[in-house]
Amino acid sequence: MASLLSPAPPAKPTSISPSVSKHRTQTHLYSLRSRPKRSLIRCNSFIDNALHLGQSLPVLPVFQSGYEQFQRFAGEIPDAEKWGIALFSGLTWTYLTARPGVLMGAIDAYILAPLQMGFDSLTGKRRLEKRDFLITDRLGEGSFGIVYSGVVVPKNVNVDDSVKKMGRGRGLELAERFKKKVILKQMKLGVRGAQECGDVEEWFNYRLSRAAPETCAEFLGSFVENKTNSQLIKGGKWLVWKFEGDRDLCDYMKDRNFPLNLEPIMFGRVLQGLDSLGRDALIIKQIMRQIITSLKKIHDTGIVHRDVKPANLVVTKKGKIKIIDFGAATDLRIGKNYFPNLGLLDPDYCPPELYVLPKETPVPPPEPVAAFLSPILWQLNSPDLFDMYSAGIVLLQMAIPTLRSTAGLKNFNLEIKALRYDLNQWRVSTRLRPDLRILDLDGGRGWDLATKLISERGFLRRGRLSAAAALRHPYFLLGGDQAAAVLSKLSLMTR
Ligand SMILES: Nc1ncnc2c1ncn2[C@@H]1O[C@H](COP(=O)(O)OP(=O)(O)OP(=O)(O)O)[C@@H](O)[C@H]1O
Ligand SMILES: [Mg+2]
Repeated sequence: MASLLSPAPPAKPTSISPSVSKHRTQTHLYSLRSRPKRSLIRCNSFIDNALHLGQSLPVLPVFQSGYEQFQRFAGEIPDAEKWGIALFSGLTWTYLTARPGVLMGAIDAYILAPLQMGFDSLTGKRRLEKRDFLITDRLGEGSFGIVYSGVVVPKNVNVDDSVKKMGRGRGLELAERFKKKVILKQMKLGVRGAQECGDVEEWFNYRLSRAAPETCAEFLGSFVENKTNSQLIKGGKWLVWKFEGDRDLCDYMKDRNFPLNLEPIMFGRVLQGLDSLGRDALIIKQIMRQIITSLKKIHDTGIVHRDVKPANLVVTKKGKIKIIDFGAATDLRIGKNYFPNLGLLDPDYCPPELYVLPKETPVPPPEPVAAFLSPILWQLNSPDLFDMYSAGIVLLQMAIPTLRSTAGLKNFNLEIKALRYDLNQWRVSTRLRPDLRILDLDGGRGWDLATKLISERGFLRRGRLSAAAALRHPYFLLGGDQAAAVLSKLSLMTR
């Protein structure tokens, strides 16, 4: 057979010999390194080369003639008009990217959300069912929902009904068998607004899972109960999250040892070279930094949480704070869950203005119109400052032990209201005998931050620090908490 075939041509080397390729790589690296110095020359020679190559390649003349046409066209426009176009483009860009981000919002709504939906459908995330989970413990009950912890039943495991029945209250045993722990929220049936609240919470969780996933608990999806039995009623909605941690900030604050009880998970060790007050202060600063950083990210998307409080801040095993419970949130980019007269908030953490926008703000127009107007609405009303007041109360509670109890906080709220939210006045007139040592450290930076968060809205509804401005406050600048957190990470890595 071989003789029937014509002799094969001598084989050409198909790969570059090691020495050559090494040489080329080095040259390439060299040109990358030297780029900053010679960028202009390189740029010109690149264009020269491209034009030269254009004579031999068929594609480039198209670009070349396009470029020439553009140059001719641009040359014909008078200078004044050119400036006009540049100014208009600049202003349009600024408007579209100003908070709450009309452009990013549109990309999210028309591209990312459908993509996420398609991806989730393919991976089965949107086809959850009740039998995918076992409920282990009941954690609590809010106005609209009952919260349980549970576990994911792996697809290949058939859990018989008897095990299901023994599920409740047998958390530990089952968690041992099925490793993946979850949180399930059953929206109440028969309570007005509860199912809508579930839909809203689901919407916000999907939105944040795209826009700022690191700020909140990982959302796993939802399902609707499809049969009625002794415990469940057909039609009820369930929301499911990854179980992020055993305790929320409220649980930690109830402990007499707070904030030192958070030291091991936040920093991985005892903070060296500091007295106990200094350690307390550093832990509190790290918590506040995380809360405000997350709030900044959430506000950047146009969302105001409206229910920031320790019970809605879950602490993960790694010492990360996750914001949960978006049932009261509102997206002021498109007016989602915004009703002018609706007050659904916790009075202990609610700012004096009570509403996220002035009460006279009308109901939102259709979504695209609302989105287009949202930068103006945001600039005029700074709705994000609503959450910043609540963050200020969380700071006070963490730093002043007597404000951690419900009664202590209620008394504080009565006093501060009577003083028109002037924290400096409160300091000299309160009967609660607060221990302010933590806030007074470092020349009173913590106290100064607190006074700029706990305040009434001033001129143009401003007068309270936004999350971005708070992070630039001297309290956070040069904060030893960050250095300690980095050191703790390094020591964990080398262990
Ligand atoms: N993903 C999670 N990981 C760990 N714990 C969680 C998680 N989600 C909720 N929890 C715990 O469950 C408690 C209640 O949850 P959540 O705040 O969502 O509901 P709620 O306030 O009771 O209900 P409502 O929506 O009616 O206000 C939280 O305070 C927290 O301790
Ligand atoms: Mg809650």
